[in-house]
Amino acid sequence: GDVAVLVPAAGAGVRLGPGAPKALRLLGGEPLLVHAVRRVAAAPSVAAVVVAAPAAEVESVRALLADVAPVVVVPGGDTRQESVAAALRAVPAGPQIILVHDAARALAPPALVESVAAAVRAGADAVIPVLPVVDTVKEVSADGVVLGTVERSALRAVQTPQGFRRDVLAAAHAAAVDALTDDAGLVEKQGGVVTCVPGSEYALKITRPFDLALAEHLLATAPP
Ligand code: CTP
Ligand code: MG
Repeated sequence: GDVAVLVPAAGAGVRLGPGAPKALRLLGGEPLLVHAVRRVAAAPSVAAVVVAAPAAEVESVRALLADVAPVVVVPGGDTRQESVAAALRAVPAGPQIILVHDAARALAPPALVESVAAAVRAGADAVIPVLPVVDTVKEVSADGVVLGTVERSALRAVQTPQGFRRDVLAAAHAAAVDALTDDAGLVEKQGGVVTCVPGSEYALKITRPFDLALAEHLLATAPP
């Protein structure tokens, strides 16, 4: 394989409510991180996986993943971007395609990993999986008055795994100033071209309790 996958998993999961760090919360009896790493490692192109774990959980995460896939585990940082940067520093030499994939997107199918990697292999600098936005979207003032309606047809909701040529991701992180919520945004700021491939509804980000309930249902009925 020519692909290394970085898995940021160091977040607290504040929006999911009180409990363990989100990546360690259970879905079908297993931590979200186990689901995510198992699916990533099942993609034939993947040669290496680096997990950024909550700093206090590095040893427990190593033990947790020992029987799932060969992984490197490093302590994450205070922001997602710092966690990705920490994982990037630990990537082994070799793979020239790097994917970044949220542990919180625990059910993203291996086929999505392959399609993102294939688009980078075909020559793209940076690739993101996207879905159309289904709701009408409005811009609203701080006091709740509508300022305008955004033209929906040009909007996309962005998922992970996001894929990059290795040199492109390294340069984007080296140049990063403010923290962004995704890595393709860093490439955009550098003037790089980011291209889209079709996302997957299974790659939903488990953020709030409703998402976890939905993921439980998906896992029980139609596991990707
Ligand atoms: N993440 C990380 N390091 C951080 C913050 C987030 O590695 N300092 C990871 C999360 O573990 C998650 C992914 O980035 O896999 C996407 O972040 P998000 O869904 O916001 O997760 P949390 O930050 O854990 O959730 P919340 O914002 O509700 O606290
Ligand atoms: Mg967060």
